[in-house]
Amino acid sequence: MSETTKNQSADGEVLLKVEGLTKHFPIKKGILQRQVGAVKAVDGIDFEVRKGETLGVVGESGCGKSTMGRVITRLQDPTDGTITFDGQDITRLNTAQMRPLRRDIQMIFQDPYGSLNPRHTIGSIVSAPFRLQNVEPEGGVKKEVQRLLELVGLSPEHYNRYPHEFSGGQRQRIGIARALALKPKLVVADEPVSALDVSIQAQVVNLMDDLQEELGLTYVIIAHDLSVVRHVSDRIAVMYLGKIVELADRTSLYEAPMHPYTKALMSAVPVPDPKRRGQKSERILLRGDVPSPIAPPSGCRFHTRCWKATQICKTTEPQLVELRPGQRVACHHPENFADQAPQDTVLLSAAKEAAELVADEVLAESAQTSQALASAVAEEEAGAEEATAEEAEVSEEASASEEAEVSEESSASEESSASEESSASEEASASEEAEAAEETAASEEASAPEEAEASEEAEASEETAETEAEAEAEAVAAADEPEADGKPASSGKAEVTGTKDKSAGTADDQD
Ligand SMILES: Nc1ncnc2c1ncn2[C@@H]1O[C@H](COP(=O)(O)OP(=O)(O)O)[C@@H](O)[C@H]1O
Ligand code: SF4
Ligand SMILES: [Mg+2]
Repeated sequence: MSETTKNQSADGEVLLKVEGLTKHFPIKKGILQRQVGAVKAVDGIDFEVRKGETLGVVGESGCGKSTMGRVITRLQDPTDGTITFDGQDITRLNTAQMRPLRRDIQMIFQDPYGSLNPRHTIGSIVSAPFRLQNVEPEGGVKKEVQRLLELVGLSPEHYNRYPHEFSGGQRQRIGIARALALKPKLVVADEPVSALDVSIQAQVVNLMDDLQEELGLTYVIIAHDLSVVRHVSDRIAVMYLGKIVELADRTSLYEAPMHPYTKALMSAVPVPDPKRRGQKSERILLRGDVPSPIAPPSGCRFHTRCWKATQICKTTEPQLVELRPGQRVACHHPENFADQAPQDTVLLSAAKEAAELVADEVLAESAQTSQALASAVAEEEAGAEEATAEEAEVSEEASASEEAEVSEESSASEESSASEESSASEEASASEEAEAAEETAASEEASAPEEAEASEEAEASEETAETEAEAEAEAVAAADEPEADGKPASSGKAEVTGTKDKSAGTADDQD
């Protein structure tokens, strides 16, 4: 994203406004199915997306990013809060009321294998939005679909072929073509490249970036690490356990992150400078488990893993406040800020763990770290090709925390198994009224809501059966997710960092 676009969008009109957004999944137990708790997947978040900008949303697996994406696109109902799209309150619109808005709000899913129905041709998949919305594009559907295929770097001849004939990267391009068919205003992409081979990730990210400029799109791009959103985002929201802990424009976030969690996430991203490659002290390792979203820690949710936590962090939840222009942070002792040092005694348990997590020198060098990252950002375009070598270095550290994450996720899923059942029926009923994706395959979590959008207009009962299967698949999303998200955070980072090249946005992965 160019600086010009960034500045334009900084003052731009708001397309999406989210206030106090909450999504709790009830946990029910016993014969009476009494609610005994809730998975607080999204727990009160506020943000805006301006026309033409890209908002990146990052955070570890399980912190509520996908749920947020599904709720803002109204594939799931919010528990609380409001969602305003293009000036219209869409929080409580039902499926029929949402239908006209489906043209304007589209979602791209993580899994390019599961999100395309293997029994449908590419032509039928990409043209589905026209059928479902009764839109006859100028020149006819086939011509328009072929134009869309070309737009995403595929060949018009692919029209009659089937998904299995394509690579992961190509399938994701097909998913993008489908999402763009009706010229949406907002595209929410949930980890659009996480499932792709490292070498293909940058191509797809760059394609999305190019299409944004060409078509004037507004994006919310969800990712579990900063490397993917780094180049394409105007602003970045960092999520932790259902909350936004920092929201800032890209430059501020990279040059001077203010939330300790942002800083930790960032230090897991390789610094593309060979001179600093050996300097382990530039990394903050987040070990320990991500706490359960069923019973998040009191006060600041990050206090159980934060090396700066004090008593107030444990008792008082910090609000997301603008500490610098355009930079909102929820922290009692923010980094890169005048009074960043904890005034209080650092919590012993947190400090003790932190002593293992973070060497003393690291704390002392914290300002230097930010400085290093700042210059790394400045140098990144020039020194990009160095990045690949960094990948190996970061992977062992990253995978340690990812493993912890995965185990936490699975236990959270176990705990919430009761609610899974209830959400299965919720999803199933959603799918009765659904609208969009008969081309979505049956077994994938990512495709479930999309399929749910499909079935009211689905012609055959066969399709409905598939939809129900999808609803079930959605119910086990919590269990599936860790696997998808839990791959080592390193994968793709360096490649994405290193291959930023507009020309790479063509379909190099076609064979
Ligand atoms: N349908 C559901 N029922 C119960 N819990 C869910 C459901 N969907 C997600 N969750 C839980 O909500 C939390 C956030 O999940 P998710 O939004 O998928 O996170 P992320 O996309 O950041 O990995 C997780 O603990 C997950 O297990
Ligand atoms: S310093 Fe306190 S408020 Fe800030 S992130 Fe750490 S625990 Fe949370
Ligand atoms: Mg997710």
